[in-house]
Amino acid sequence: MSQKKNKKTNNAYKFSVAPMLDCTDKHFRVLMRHITNRALLYTEMIVAQALHHTQRREKLLDFYKIEHPLAIQLGGSNPNLLREAAKIAEDWGYDEINLNIGCPSSKVISGNFGAYLMAKPDQVARCVEAMVSASNLPVTIKTRLGIDNLDSNENLISFIDTVSKAGAEKFTIHARKAWLKGLDPKQNRTIPPLQPERVFDLKKKRPNLIIELNGGINSILDCQAALENCDGVMVGRAAYEYPLRWEKVDELFFGEQTKKIKASYVIKKMIPHTENHLQNGGRVWDIGRHLMHLVKDVPGARIWRNQLGRKAQEKSADLRVLEEAAHQLLDRGL
Ligand SMILES: Cc1cc2nc3c(=O)[nH]c(=O)nc-3n(C[C@H](O)[C@H](O)[C@H](O)COP(=O)(O)O)c2cc1C
Repeated sequence: MSQKKNKKTNNAYKFSVAPMLDCTDKHFRVLMRHITNRALLYTEMIVAQALHHTQRREKLLDFYKIEHPLAIQLGGSNPNLLREAAKIAEDWGYDEINLNIGCPSSKVISGNFGAYLMAKPDQVARCVEAMVSASNLPVTIKTRLGIDNLDSNENLISFIDTVSKAGAEKFTIHARKAWLKGLDPKQNRTIPPLQPERVFDLKKKRPNLIIELNGGINSILDCQAALENCDGVMVGRAAYEYPLRWEKVDELFFGEQTKKIKASYVIKKMIPHTENHLQNGGRVWDIGRHLMHLVKDVPGARIWRNQLGRKAQEKSADLRVLEEAAHQLLDRGL
């Protein structure tokens, strides 16, 4: 068992935004920071092996100061590579290290990590021990209820016990199992039924562990209901697709005063960020693609999105595209 237990887990665990490949990049995370200061944000999954190569580190790890608190999510199953990655992540300034034991893509399965590792609790324990020994950051796990036929409550509890003894401090459970044989990752996010009650049961059986529910949480009300039965909630798709839905997170879950946040306000806040990104050789679309989700479910939203999408993708796009998009919304009180 790890000698370095009981490190202080980042107490921002009540509400978090899930790691999502191709979605939760640094630009989306900065956008979220103009909506909530307190939510714990996660990077997209970064494969530990990729961090071994120094020349790729900056691109993979770079983030903006405003993004704190920020957890890095690692993928891997080799304790040595994960030890190295954990040390690098701490030096880089992350606040938490999360290991992905939930991703069911074939790439992940052939690399022997992600959800596949639910069948290998001892190996996960060795990975966790390695990461705990390498850094002072909390090491946490994101996993599923089970995989294939390894899907009983007993199996889940035994897995969690083994990994918690190794030093993992928080468990985020996507409340559905994954079928590694037969379903693709997208299907594995919709077809296996959600069973949040099994996560609540885990919390009852292991009251001293920090247990976070993930999967199918669509509203603040959903979060409040879940928080009656577990310690934290993690929101994925509904955070990416409806960022403004979460404007009251700081007030309701962290006791901080918030004010009404308009889409135009967020876009204006993103303009200096975009300017900086352009100066570093980036494109407006890198940021604009996330901003499109700020306006939905109001008359004319689709026209606004189409226009922003078209203009922001032009090679010559500059800050005026965002200024115009913000003005259009402001004129409508949005
Ligand atoms: C586009 C996309 C990419 C994802 N990438 C990751 C990832 O890199 N790591 C991970 O642990 N989960 C990933 N997930 C799963 C989410 O983190 C989350 O567990 C899942 O979407 C269920 O939560 P939700 O119903 O709130 O979306 C991804 C999900 C989506 C939709």
